[in-house]
Amino acid sequence: MRKKIVAGNWKMNLDAAESQKLIEELKSQSLAANVTVAVAPPFVHLSSAVSQTSDSSIGVIAQNMHQAKSGAFTGEVSSSMLKSIGVHTVLLGHSERRAYFHETDALLAEKVDAALADGLQLIFCFGEELAERKSNTHFDVVTHQLTEGLFHLTAAQWENIVLAYEPVWAIGTGETASPAQAQEMHAHIRSVLAAKYDAHLAQGVSVLYGGSVKPANAQELFSQADVDGGLIGGASLNAADFAAIVNAF
Ligand code: PGA
Repeated sequence: MRKKIVAGNWKMNLDAAESQKLIEELKSQSLAANVTVAVAPPFVHLSSAVSQTSDSSIGVIAQNMHQAKSGAFTGEVSSSMLKSIGVHTVLLGHSERRAYFHETDALLAEKVDAALADGLQLIFCFGEELAERKSNTHFDVVTHQLTEGLFHLTAAQWENIVLAYEPVWAIGTGETASPAQAQEMHAHIRSVLAAKYDAHLAQGVSVLYGGSVKPANAQELFSQADVDGGLIGGASLNAADFAAIVNAF
């Protein structure tokens, strides 16, 4: 079911005290009740974030997971570990994972399967690089990422998937896709979903925009017909800014 969602991706920021402080600050903000709000702190803060948010409507998301259930994978975290501390949603395919940690479409398809098999929900991230937009291949790139990462799934499995379109050139750069560019791509995403599955599924999936969303541009982005919210990086590290983005709908 399509929902309005604003999720904060903290990336590798904030120590334990700072993480706790930010969550307390967020809890003291008034957040629109019709928006699903969540934060994605680093792994080491997830447990305390879950207990801190248990008396609030703020959800807690992991930034990544490994595809195996357990085993000799030093430094990695599995879906069952996340579930065991009360985390039921994971980001997969963030462009920083793809670029710096060499996560391929094929690997991401494995992670998607592992997450869904274990009953997790996921926010699947994808988007084109600047050169791809400049060469006008951005629609093909996005279609390819969706096809390789997700199109082996059954329609029923899409109940647990949220999409996050994040043009790489807009992430952390202060450059945002214009509302028209975001809408154009989100409409493309729904048309690809409709062609692969059906219109009902395409209309039911929440598609977030990510890439330098700020209080000043959130309202215009979120007012686009096919934009259901945002995945927020830098601005999610400030409670007032994040709350203003949540309340921009
Ligand atoms: P940004 O990051 O808002 O800092 O551009 C977005 C993201 O990477 O999810």
